[in-house]
Amino acid sequence: MNQVLESRPQTARAAVAPRAAVPPARLAHVVFRTSQFDALVNWYTTVLCAKTAFSNGALAFLSYDEEHHRIAILNIPGLERQPDGIAGMHHVAFTYDSLADLVATYERLDKAGIRPVTCMNHGPTTSMYYADPDGNQVELQVDNYETVEKAGEFFYSPAFAKNPIGVDFEPADLARRFHSGEDETAIKMRPDSEARGLDSLNLR
Ligand SMILES: [Fe+2]
Repeated sequence: MNQVLESRPQTARAAVAPRAAVPPARLAHVVFRTSQFDALVNWYTTVLCAKTAFSNGALAFLSYDEEHHRIAILNIPGLERQPDGIAGMHHVAFTYDSLADLVATYERLDKAGIRPVTCMNHGPTTSMYYADPDGNQVELQVDNYETVEKAGEFFYSPAFAKNPIGVDFEPADLARRFHSGEDETAIKMRPDSEARGLDSLNLR
């Protein structure tokens, strides 16, 4: 019995050393409630190349990476559509590894009849915004800078002070430039713009 107790040093450590405040290791998942269950499951599995890890018709867990589910969808009949002008989450963003992946995804979804509602170069990211069948906005993006530090510096640039929102672009034009072989850094460089504020955004 003594040997068993002695094999639990972690318990003893925890008792004498209180942990410092700890942030989460990662963002785990997003859950949507919907009355269009099949439509939402189809949309998110298509857009994110996700697999349905589990579904019983009342709830579905969708997975596209090492996490058991990144998206969950709850089937709740009779829900009202979200009105504009309420507080809450604006959008969920997913990052791709490369501009090639983002362009390929745009083209794949375009063929499936799923098109972005707006596209913007924010500076730190090149972003395409989609709306799911319930109108929840989903951003598909690629980082424009090699490092987080470089992206962070942009927040303190004169360009960001003048326009912290971003510069609109046409996704087909972005795809054309990419396929032409144009330098990716040039494609992802946010162009100069006029002053722009939050009032120019569709905040719902
Ligand atoms: Fe975003």
